[in-house]
Amino acid sequence: MASRRALVAGNWKMNGLKGSKAEITALLKHWDKANPKPKCDILICPPALILERLKLAANGSRLKFGGQDCHANPSGAHTGDISAEMFKDAGAAFVIVGHSERRADHNESNDQVQAKAQAVHRAGLIAIICIGETQAERKAGNTIKIVNAQIKGSLPKGVTAKNTVIAYEPVWAIGTGLTPTVQDVEKVHSAIRKQLTKLMGGDEADKMRILYGGSVKPANAGELMAASDVDGALVGGASLKAKDFWGIIQAYT
Ligand code: PGA
Repeated sequence: MASRRALVAGNWKMNGLKGSKAEITALLKHWDKANPKPKCDILICPPALILERLKLAANGSRLKFGGQDCHANPSGAHTGDISAEMFKDAGAAFVIVGHSERRADHNESNDQVQAKAQAVHRAGLIAIICIGETQAERKAGNTIKIVNAQIKGSLPKGVTAKNTVIAYEPVWAIGTGLTPTVQDVEKVHSAIRKQLTKLMGGDEADKMRILYGGSVKPANAGELMAASDVDGALVGGASLKAKDFWGIIQAYT
């Protein structure tokens, strides 16, 4: 098995103002003090408007920043949209695409997600492609079928383990405090890796990071991050406070 460097990513969603810089400072304090240091990459995806300000506050540290969504085009007449190139310009290294809130609130299809992921690659950034089943799909026993179809439909040409991370987020686990069992998470992550093997070949699939997301908290991070084929977390609510986010990161110390 390839050794995959874990990634703990915080998705702030529509939360955060200029003052949120204090959370970045607090997070860096935890990191500075930690001994041993966590063996994972750490990423914050704040609202686009404050990304550059937070990056400056992080002051050349190893903390990485990312966007939460982007338009498929590099520029043009698209009022209100932000391109992957703009995220790069602001200092981002990653962009999340296909989050279930985008798929639900903005009716984003796999085709659109694929075009956005392609745009992220075009800009030279890493795409975090989100997939996951709804409660009804899980109840109907269709979880694996759904995530396989989402992977097939959302992965662009030229995808590699370097330019892409997969985030498995069951829709019913996001922001609800509910999580699948560790066994369920392992089952889905292993199916995802199988599907990636089919699409990209074994070597590349083996190197690809697959994150789990959905109600990850300091209290459950240890067991979820220890699950096989789980290479980190995509964290919403618990990433807003440095103390909670650090509690999750500690799964890798
Ligand atoms: P949550 O969100 O941690 O608040 O459940 C996860 C996500 O949507 O990425």
